[in-house]
Amino acid sequence: MASLIYLLVFTLIQMTQIECSMVNCLPKNHAALFILGDSLFDNGNNNYINTTMDYQANYPPFGETFFKYPSGRFSDGRMIPDVVAELAQLPLLPPYLHPGHPQHIYGVNFASGGSGALRETALGFVIDLKTQVSYLRNVKNNFRQRLGVAEAEELVSKSVYLFSVGANDYGAILDLNTGLLPPGDHKNYVDNVIGNITEAIKEIYNFGGKKFGFVNVPGIGCSPGIRWAVNNGSTGPCYEGISAIARLHNSELTKMLQKLEKQLRGFKYSITDFYSAFAQLITYPSRYGLKEVSGGCCGGGAYKGDGSCGMMKNGKKEYELCDNVNEYLFFDSHHPTDRASQIFAELIWNGNLTVTKPYNLKQLFQL
Ligand SMILES: *[C@@H]1O[C@H](CO)[C@@H](O)[C@H](O)[C@H]1NC(C)=O
Ligand SMILES: *[C@@H]1O[C@H](CO)[C@@H](O)[C@H](O)[C@H]1NC(C)=O
Ligand SMILES: *[C@@H]1O[C@H](CO)[C@@H](O)[C@H](O)[C@H]1NC(C)=O
Ligand SMILES: *[C@@H]1O[C@H](CO)[C@@H](O)[C@H](O)[C@H]1NC(C)=O
Repeated sequence: MASLIYLLVFTLIQMTQIECSMVNCLPKNHAALFILGDSLFDNGNNNYINTTMDYQANYPPFGETFFKYPSGRFSDGRMIPDVVAELAQLPLLPPYLHPGHPQHIYGVNFASGGSGALRETALGFVIDLKTQVSYLRNVKNNFRQRLGVAEAEELVSKSVYLFSVGANDYGAILDLNTGLLPPGDHKNYVDNVIGNITEAIKEIYNFGGKKFGFVNVPGIGCSPGIRWAVNNGSTGPCYEGISAIARLHNSELTKMLQKLEKQLRGFKYSITDFYSAFAQLITYPSRYGLKEVSGGCCGGGAYKGDGSCGMMKNGKKEYELCDNVNEYLFFDSHHPTDRASQIFAELIWNGNLTVTKPYNLKQLFQL
């Protein structure tokens, strides 16, 4: 009996020590970064689901400039969350579905290329937002088991939840033949998107999250893919119709976050005006060391917007690849380059009130 008690106590001490090595050895006020949303942030989750190449970037030439292999990021190199994690002095966050990364003590990435706020968006091909939030809940429960309730609650409340969501919900209603929106003002649809984002925030808040970061939806009508599609594969203007919906979405998103700040005790947010930041780069490329802000670096057709980046046929490349990727805003038909991601990540982390408010992410971490 005595030896059994001894063994029990001994085991408990050992467990405490293990936990100490996970928690107390972290800097005081340690906070993690959790990433949710779409392909702007997906760092490889879609590698592990049953989907199609359109929703994956785990083949060349993705990833070649930084990681030297196609990690599943929709970029030549890093994406925005990689750089934000770096600025927050956190290690590179693993994709949640990557096997063999169970700790998640610095955070983890749940984002899934192609996903939106609505369950119907790319249904069956992506990890929808609700599922991403349920994975986050699993991580929290795991913290409670490993760190104890108090430590887990503290970590969850200090951590930052960064979202990129919405663009695909609007992309999903474009007519496949013309690339155009169906007629109507789409106010109802925007309300559904915002409503579903609100639900995701509230669920995370209800299990202890307090600090939320957002990038709003950029002027997607100027992405190489949309320009290529609406102009029937030729050169032509940006598609103002879908950018107008992005603006409507963005104003509703800001209103919703302001409302939640009043409703929910301790709720804090940061929103980066990604729409304006994108427009700035497109209007004044040379200020940012960029030269090509209309067309992508990788793909085929007008603006290299045909979505063929990385596609092969009979062992032959079906796409073209630019030489100086660092001069480009877009890598493929929709996603920013490593270089552009660095610019955007700086604005999220450290941007002033004209672009990121009411706090930037650096301030949000410190609150
Ligand atoms: C993956 O999806 C394809 C097409 O939807 C289906 O035929 C196949 O059975 C699925 N594979 C698995 C492992 O679920
Ligand atoms: C979420 O979106 C669905 C459509 O996908 C809609 O029926 C539902 O009302 C939305 N939820 C909220 C809270 O807006
Ligand atoms: C593209 O083609 C469609 C019909 O095929 C036509 O209605 C539309 O005006 C064309 N758009 C442009 C920009 O040429
Ligand atoms: C805020 O940041 C933007 C973008 O970096 C810059 O153009 C602007 O001059 C800054 N404004 C102030 C008041 O510092």
